[in-house]
Amino acid sequence: MKQWQALVRDIPDFPRPGILFKDITPVLADAEGFAAAVAAMVEPWREAGLDAVVGIESRGFILGAALAQALGTGFVPVRKPGRLPADTLSQDYALEYGTDRLEVHVDALPAGARVLLVDDVLATGGTLLAARSLMRRQGAEVAGATVLFEMLALGGRAHWDESVPLLAAAAY
Ligand code: PRP
Ligand code: MG
Repeated sequence: MKQWQALVRDIPDFPRPGILFKDITPVLADAEGFAAAVAAMVEPWREAGLDAVVGIESRGFILGAALAQALGTGFVPVRKPGRLPADTLSQDYALEYGTDRLEVHVDALPAGARVLLVDDVLATGGTLLAARSLMRRQGAEVAGATVLFEMLALGGRAHWDESVPLLAAAAY
């Protein structure tokens, strides 16, 4: 299968000077590369008994929808504030400067549903932790979380309680 990692593109000084941004759009644009990346993320979860895949806006939607199809589950979006039309639960989380918020529909999942959280990247870990809190508050069981890659220097994994598996298909 194609080496999707070779398609990840480094963009210096984005979104701010001094940041080396890992751009996954060339992976997504390549049919074999996208398929290989999704396959790498999917494989460990085939027998996990999942009820739903939960993807985090916005890049987590792209990968999460593909994983849901591959795993034969539905897809639940965790969105940025003010985008979901029905009643929501919301969770604030810290950014480097300031805070942000994620939301999910209160009725998105039945109680006890086993879910897999999906995002593209683990950096500081704030996004994935906020999504995990939302799932717990909703009464879902987080079977695990998966990202295409983690940025080791940012140490996000240190904030994650590893009683719940957090898998990354690659690390930089
Ligand atoms: C990026 C990335 C992850 C998150 C990781 O999303 O897609 O979701 O940051 O960072 P963290 O581990 O430090 O929380 P971002 O909110 O920048 O936007 P996007 O997905 O909408 O592009
Ligand atoms: Mg994101």
